[in-house]
Amino acid sequence: MNKKSEFDSCAENYRQKQLHDEILAKVGEYYQRFHKTQEYKKGDRISYAGRIYNEEEMLNLTDAALEFWLTQGRYTDTFEAGLAEYIGTAHASLTNSGSSANLLAFMALTAEELGERRIRRGDEVITVAAGFPTTVAPIVQYGAVPVFVDVTVPDYNINSETLEKAVSDKTKAVFLAHTLGNPFDIQKIKGLCEKYHLWLIEDNCDALGSEYFWNGEWKKTGTAGNLATCSFYPPHHITMGEGGAVCTDNPVLHKLVRSFRDWGRDCWCRSGMDDTCKHRYTQQFGELPLGYDHKYVYSHFGYNLKATDLQAAIGCAQLKKLPGFIKARREHWTFLRNELEDISDRIILPMEREGTRPSWFGFLMTVKGDAGFSRNDLAEYLESENIQTRFLFAGNLLKHPCFDGMRRRKEGFRIAGSLEHTDRIMEQSLWVGVYPGMTTQMLTFMAEKIKAFCRTGR
Ligand SMILES: Cc1ncc(COP(=O)(O)O)c(C=O)c1O
Repeated sequence: MNKKSEFDSCAENYRQKQLHDEILAKVGEYYQRFHKTQEYKKGDRISYAGRIYNEEEMLNLTDAALEFWLTQGRYTDTFEAGLAEYIGTAHASLTNSGSSANLLAFMALTAEELGERRIRRGDEVITVAAGFPTTVAPIVQYGAVPVFVDVTVPDYNINSETLEKAVSDKTKAVFLAHTLGNPFDIQKIKGLCEKYHLWLIEDNCDALGSEYFWNGEWKKTGTAGNLATCSFYPPHHITMGEGGAVCTDNPVLHKLVRSFRDWGRDCWCRSGMDDTCKHRYTQQFGELPLGYDHKYVYSHFGYNLKATDLQAAIGCAQLKKLPGFIKARREHWTFLRNELEDISDRIILPMEREGTRPSWFGFLMTVKGDAGFSRNDLAEYLESENIQTRFLFAGNLLKHPCFDGMRRRKEGFRIAGSLEHTDRIMEQSLWVGVYPGMTTQMLTFMAEKIKAFCRTGR
């Protein structure tokens, strides 16, 4: 390069940086003027959850947009490394949703590479019906058999005492969520999985940052199973709009997750890269001709469930805020728990099990049978007072239309024991939010209204 063109290119780089910074400064100003959260006034709608962000998320997003790489890039690498480090697993793979993460975690366990331990069609996977549908959907879609075990109240997690009775010689895995952030009984469930050589998938979508005490130290949920999943949909602990992740310590499972996520390919080059392995044209695969381009060799029947760098850019800013978010969620949950203690004759309040530090997703309550009002009465009342409520997702997934055919034909699933408490949750439970956007004023109003209704019916 001659002196003049070197000078021109330097000037161009300078101008680009200057423009970039001017745009970012405007975005910061835009956030301050138009996005800053409005102050809560008594009577305003209290959502059960919501995005909490500041200019940092918007600046990262703009930076990624100006770079216009679009697919996975440097923000994805940073996010995946940061998430893995936070949870304490060796690997994390970003996906476009928590449901996609569940699908990938499950499908990884169907791979031929796992030999006798792989999940085949007709094999059984132990789970619960009181939860989110996409924990169960991959099992059904693949043609494996979900085996439903009841949960307990007020733990809202699988009954670890009856779980062992559900194990058969077809059982290959246990796939469970930590309900609304409350860790399931990891000691017992991990122990059973080890005893019967079962895979354990933790659906950690509602529990990012929850902790359990294990061998003398606090560990994050997501490190107990062979695979764990996260969701970054807006109500979750951190958000990127749509997004999810699969975490694992196991390098073989990690490679499988990446392959299923990225079209089923064998090659592990990053987007836009070629020949990372330096053997692009020298290898033998299947019955392909020797040296067939590794980039187009498919070792699995995969999907494309990647997220974009725009999403990851937002996630990078959110990850830094996560410890503060978790602290706020725990404080809000404790506030409600203390305030509502004196209505425990009408409502079963949630509990924090010894040896756990939940990163709560919500405050889950079950209306007692003799309370004198129903769950729906309470929900309708709170909604009329502008307090948003939620049921525990599917309640009992087996009662939903998606199960009509399977229920009628009595095939494709198994119930181990009764689902008495699952049905009870479907009929009598509801939850309100504890997300970081709540203030003491909002929490006080919620507690007052819940107490007033329980005492006087209004
Ligand atoms: C326990 C659980 N698993 C999975 C999901 C699915 O996550 P996503 O909405 O990102 O697909 C959710 C969604 O809220 C969930 O609560």
